Amino acid sequence: MTPEMSSTEAMIGRADVDDYEAILSVIGTEESSGQHRVHSDYDTTFTWNYEKGARPKLTKLYEKAKSAQWNGETDLPWDTDVDQEKLVLANAEATGGFSAGFDLTGTPLTSWTDKEWLRFGVESQNWTLSQFMHGEQGALVCTAKIVESVPWIDAKYYAATQVMDEARHVEVFAKYLDEKLSGHYPINGHLRMLLDDIIADSRWDMTYLGMQIMVEGLALAAFGFMHQMTGDPLLKTLLRYVMADEARHVAFGVLSLQEYYQELTAAELRERQEFAFEAAVRMRDRFLQQEVWDRMGVDPKLVVPVLLQAPERGAFQALLFSKIVPNCKKLGLLDAADGWLRKKFTELGVIEFESWTDTSEEYDALASLPPKDRLAS
Ligand SMILES: [Fe+2]
Ligand SMILES: [Fe+2]
Repeated sequence: MTPEMSSTEAMIGRADVDDYEAILSVIGTEESSGQHRVHSDYDTTFTWNYEKGARPKLTKLYEKAKSAQWNGETDLPWDTDVDQEKLVLANAEATGGFSAGFDLTGTPLTSWTDKEWLRFGVESQNWTLSQFMHGEQGALVCTAKIVESVPWIDAKYYAATQVMDEARHVEVFAKYLDEKLSGHYPINGHLRMLLDDIIADSRWDMTYLGMQIMVEGLALAAFGFMHQMTGDPLLKTLLRYVMADEARHVAFGVLSLQEYYQELTAAELRERQEFAFEAAVRMRDRFLQQEVWDRMGVDPKLVVPVLLQAPERGAFQALLFSKIVPNCKKLGLLDAADGWLRKKFTELGVIEFESWTDTSEEYDALASLPPKDRLAS
């Protein structure tokens, strides 16, 4: 039996996934109160079953997490000099220049001088790190919610270590932005919609799916790229530390949901597939950096369609899903409900990663080294 379908419009707010007018019309802005409130109505669950180790894989993760704690103030080389413009220029040169590979004819960018391109590169980096920081705060609140809502003691123990990890991640990205870069950005409109939906959902496993599998799966891939690319040894070290934690977080999601999904019906799994699809689309929508164009005084609708045509762009964007797709497969989400999610991921151009290593298999390689040894790699 195929469960009832939601329309694309109902899932993501537009009928055509690739409607760029609609995607670009959402631009994140600062709320004047300096706060953002999301209502959530869910059960906080006590368990009276304190038997530690009933879920041995979670216990193993918990023990690892305790010994892998690090201190964002003292374990990172904050005395490193960071020349942001120089680093941005070096990166652009390594890839053949800011506009390499783009045909900008007919866009406002044809009149841009080197100075404007450099400013764009700097703003783009400020934006990217700001989104990392906001996403980390999303993880912080989601994990605190998991501590309350998950019914298993081993999962509560583990999630508590993740709350600490995420606090540290928010802290180090905020410090890096303040001390080494040149300005914050508000949260991207699409990322905010996704975090709102994850937080507002009353079902405890949806927090895991939205955060641990989708947001953190993408973050793990994105941090990996930046770790490879950056010429700043401070940022490199910072990301290496954060990635070691993130690999554990994604593994936590896979190990927990693998068990829980066994109990779900096809109709319930289909709801999880739709949520995974919505999350994938929202994360793809945010790559367009709407807020940067806005700040540069350029209408994104005039430039983004041109930038999207660059040959490597699609491949690069798809690679960001290289952790998410194998993890969804491991959870049985690709092929449940007549393979609905497999079809959707095929349409999004990311299905090719389904046989890559899933994170519950590879987290050891990233996460098992004690902090001091991680510095060397
Ligand atoms: Fe994190
Ligand atoms: Fe995380």
